[in-house]
Amino acid sequence: MRGKITDILFDESQINSRVAELGAEINADYAGRDIFGVCLLKGSIIFCADLVRHIKVPIRVDVMRASSYGSNTESSGSVKILQDLDIDIAGKDVLIIEDIVDTGRTLHKTLELLTVRHPNSLKVCTLLDKPSRRVEEIDIAYRGFSIPDKFVVGYGLDFDEYYRNLPYISVLDPNG
Ligand code: XMP
Ligand code: MG
Repeated sequence: MRGKITDILFDESQINSRVAELGAEINADYAGRDIFGVCLLKGSIIFCADLVRHIKVPIRVDVMRASSYGSNTESSGSVKILQDLDIDIAGKDVLIIEDIVDTGRTLHKTLELLTVRHPNSLKVCTLLDKPSRRVEEIDIAYRGFSIPDKFVVGYGLDFDEYYRNLPYISVLDPNG
């Protein structure tokens, strides 16, 4: 079962222009500094790939993977780091690149883990924000779009690993 794609929330051109705007904001804020980008796998791969091509300040990118969902659409309370960074972030200006902040549990735990490694700064850039489901408070420095409480797929976001390839972001009806 792959569910059913229903409403398109953001099409390719809306995404492209918003990602370019985020890049411009980041360039202005980090002028004169290097960025250490952390791409949170797997949902952020497409967003990260597009965003970094708008970054004009020196940037390095590493990847990290934390478990999020126990089942397909329901967040689990316990979060595990499945793959850690290769590089030490002490003293670095770390920018986390995330696909979506939902309950905030995954990111909260990830931020806790990275904070104790003493980065110079630690900020969050997320493409999507689903604030209605927040359990852990998260300080989001860069936000692409706020969305209602709907399960969405596309542009890196999946349902059972499908739909990451869609160039747009759409609501998915898991039972459709
Ligand atoms: P929490 O609840 O910890 O979850 O903030 C964040 C992670 O859960 C995934 N997630 C989604 N994935 N459509 C998806 O394809 C959604 O609507 C959705 N909501 C949350 C995602 O991996 C995110 O990093
Ligand atoms: Mg994610």
